[in-house]
Amino acid sequence: MTILVTGGAGFIGSNFVYYQLAKHPEDRVVCLDKLTYAGNLESLAQAMENPSFRFVRADITDREAVEKLFEEEKPDIVVNFAAESHVDRSVEDPGIFIRTNILGTQTMMDASRKYGVKRYHQVSTDEVYGDLPLDRPDLFFTEETHIHTSSPYSASKAGADLLVLAYARTYGLPVSITRCSNNYGPYHFPEKLIPLMITRALADESLPVYGNGENVRDWLYVEDHCAAIDLVMRKGREGEVYNVGGHNERTNLEVVKTVLRELGKPESLITYVRDRPGHDRRYAIDPTKIHNELGWLPQTSFDEGIRRTVKWYLDNREWWEHILAGEYQNYYEHMYGNR
Ligand code: NAD
Ligand code: TYD
Repeated sequence: MTILVTGGAGFIGSNFVYYQLAKHPEDRVVCLDKLTYAGNLESLAQAMENPSFRFVRADITDREAVEKLFEEEKPDIVVNFAAESHVDRSVEDPGIFIRTNILGTQTMMDASRKYGVKRYHQVSTDEVYGDLPLDRPDLFFTEETHIHTSSPYSASKAGADLLVLAYARTYGLPVSITRCSNNYGPYHFPEKLIPLMITRALADESLPVYGNGENVRDWLYVEDHCAAIDLVMRKGREGEVYNVGGHNERTNLEVVKTVLRELGKPESLITYVRDRPGHDRRYAIDPTKIHNELGWLPQTSFDEGIRRTVKWYLDNREWWEHILAGEYQNYYEHMYGNR
């Protein structure tokens, strides 16, 4: 089979490319990515050496480029990771979120219809459900929870999800959707909470915690998310939504303190800064459906996952130092400039 992965040069997408190549060596993996600020070809350096892998630089909203790739590759499965993904950036500039996350999804689905793919899988987020109160630990997001978004990011992801379900109903496109909680692990761009705290703490810089640090996120090691997507796109029921999460809730302050302990750095680095506007209080996933139907369970505990993640950032300083220095953006020209 040929699997077309959009956004494969980003955090979860690159982890997913490696997961696919290792788990299904018989399949071909084609990555389509625009290489925005969040896309980094250095993350795919090892995949580039694999003859079953191909990288194509293109924008998912570029219909001509997308159709050309479908014509060439005739993918069996399309997995759409490509998105603008940072809530704080969506507060500053919502337009690009609407364009990429909604119109890009439409373009990918139109091509999927035209070329008759066997499965179009949309990688979505628990943020489409809005947030839960901090004083109701008994409440969780299920697949039946109402869509109720807070940020331009989550609204754009919810818009895309609705469009995906509409394409299933209207055109019979064979779709599936996963809505996952916060991921962490290797190749995570250092503007998101965990890698930001690791890289800043290593430089003994202050660690900016929004508000009082009591907001809760439900953390999942990225490889467990990749395993869930792989299961759903191959064996999940058509037209269905599956929530993905590992019952791993932590306040932001707990997360930052865990990172500091792992690095042997002092808590005095923590500084409280102005809260994010519209800041979601708590996310918490009920993963019963994916467990009951597909047998999925997370394999990595939070302590183990944080240990591995911190080790990865220590062992791969070059990767994130290039990002902080802006050098990674020259990598494509360097690698492909003369081809
Ligand atoms: P990311 O920002 O690290 O990567 C996004 C990738 O998409 C980048 O490689 C970027 O170059 C590419 N891209 C952006 N716009 C594009 C366009 N117009 N055309 C082609 N490529 C484009 O994001 P991530 O954290 O890896 O998230 C991947 C997906 O998973 C997103 O759809 C996100 O909504 C979803 N998700 C993320 C999390 C999380 O915790 N990070 C949790 C649940 C769901
Ligand atoms: P983030 O990694 O941006 O993911 P999301 O907003 O999609 O959940 O942020 C995770 C949590 O950490 C969120 O509650 C905001 C908080 N946060 C900080 O306190 N300081 C920071 O510098 C960042 C980037 C996030």
